[in-house]
Amino acid sequence: MDLNDHIEKILWTEQQISERVSELGSQITKDFKSGTIAPAIVGVATGAFLFTADLARKIHLPITVDFIRVESYGSGTVSNGRPTISFDLKLDVRGKHVILVEDIVDTGSTLSCLIDYMKTKGASSVSVCALLDKSARRKVHFELVGEGKYYSGFECPDNFVVGYGLDFDEVYRNLPYVGVLKPEIYQ
Ligand code: PRP
Ligand code: MN
Ligand code: MG
Repeated sequence: MDLNDHIEKILWTEQQISERVSELGSQITKDFKSGTIAPAIVGVATGAFLFTADLARKIHLPITVDFIRVESYGSGTVSNGRPTISFDLKLDVRGKHVILVEDIVDTGSTLSCLIDYMKTKGASSVSVCALLDKSARRKVHFELVGEGKYYSGFECPDNFVVGYGLDFDEVYRNLPYVGVLKPEIYQ
């Protein structure tokens, strides 16, 4: 079985992702290098595991790296709108400049939940770095905290996309590119 056969179209190749991740890392390095405290990178598991690992290596500052797990999709293709934190932070983010790292922003409910959570944990600013932004599907408005910035890799069309961390029913995360899943796979 070849996972590639389940993909209708590649949207961003491994090379294109890698170049964009480098640019995002450089931008973050530039924006945070004058600060006295290096940012705390918080990857949103599971989807952002590859992006977090690659981005972290392109930020040339003494960052910390941590993960938090939020889930709202289960095995379906539509968010149930009720994200739950199922794996908490290891590090204390009080007084820190948190950068939440996401593979994709869709309805916005996951980020909205996480930003509120970082606020209650005392983060002094909350930024977001999302590889993909499906802005056409936004339902929940979220506001960054303090001097927080919004970084986005690519504007994503409204298709069911998988790869580079993104799953369908927990599969396809290990594809090195982002592509559109053939509808017959999930219908
Ligand atoms: C996906 C994706 C984002 C979130 C975006 O995670 O990785 O975290 O949904 O959707 P939203 O903007 O509508 O909230 P999912 O809940 O599928 O968990 P996963 O990362 O483990 O795949
Ligand atoms: Mn996720
Ligand atoms: Mg998922």
